[in-house]
Amino acid sequence: MKDVIIACDFSSADAVLEFLDKFSGCERKPFVKIGMELFYAAGPDIVRKIKARGHRIFLDLKLHDIPNTVRKTMKVLSDLDVDMTNVHAGGTIEMMKAALEGLTREDGSRPMLVAVTQLTSTSEERMRGDLLIDHPIAEVIAHYAANAKEAGLDGVVCSPLEASIVKERCGREFLAVTPGIRFADAAADDQVRITTPARAREIGSDFIVVGRPITAAQDPVAAYRRCVEEFLN
Ligand code: C5P
Repeated sequence: MKDVIIACDFSSADAVLEFLDKFSGCERKPFVKIGMELFYAAGPDIVRKIKARGHRIFLDLKLHDIPNTVRKTMKVLSDLDVDMTNVHAGGTIEMMKAALEGLTREDGSRPMLVAVTQLTSTSEERMRGDLLIDHPIAEVIAHYAANAKEAGLDGVVCSPLEASIVKERCGREFLAVTPGIRFADAAADDQVRITTPARAREIGSDFIVVGRPITAAQDPVAAYRRCVEEFLN
């Protein structure tokens, strides 16, 4: 189940396909994350193309709308045959339940569904000042994770440093999908709460989402292999 997901934050279909070509000789077919930038630029066809190459896909569109709209949109995404997708837990339990309904196919199968708790870019200070949420951020994350679990979701996206809080509250089976991963000897870029693949494994992440440490590496395949080695082995 555990895996390394490469965040393919490219702005065109050509760029992502050229990047994935590098992995044609790799012993593992990487699980890839397609985010808003690429999806809005290249459309659903890029999902079909990457899927046809045999990659598993996390479609990271972070839906947050009224339950009816989310239900119907999730049906469309489910028909795209992605493996994982997500919503904002802030959309409420009712919205998350609607997402799950929309995602579930007639035969009962569905992609994994995870919820974003609070974005890692949101500080406790901004949560208080901008959002008027007056609780410690760890409590908010644990509460949003519990809401996602109550709605029937498979897990949450959170910082690796929050994975243990989520597991404590929601149980070991509840998935922690964690971006904010950096090698011990590399730059943090704009990420703040970061950790290494090895430490993420120790804390309990189920999936690590790794972007620039792989996509901007001189040798992306070697960087991917290093992630796999540290996280899975
Ligand atoms: O390049 P980097 O490894 O920082 O990429 C991390 C990926 O995870 C990006 O696609 C980013 O949008 C995503 N992400 C994140 N923090 C969150 C949710 C998603 O960094 N809380």
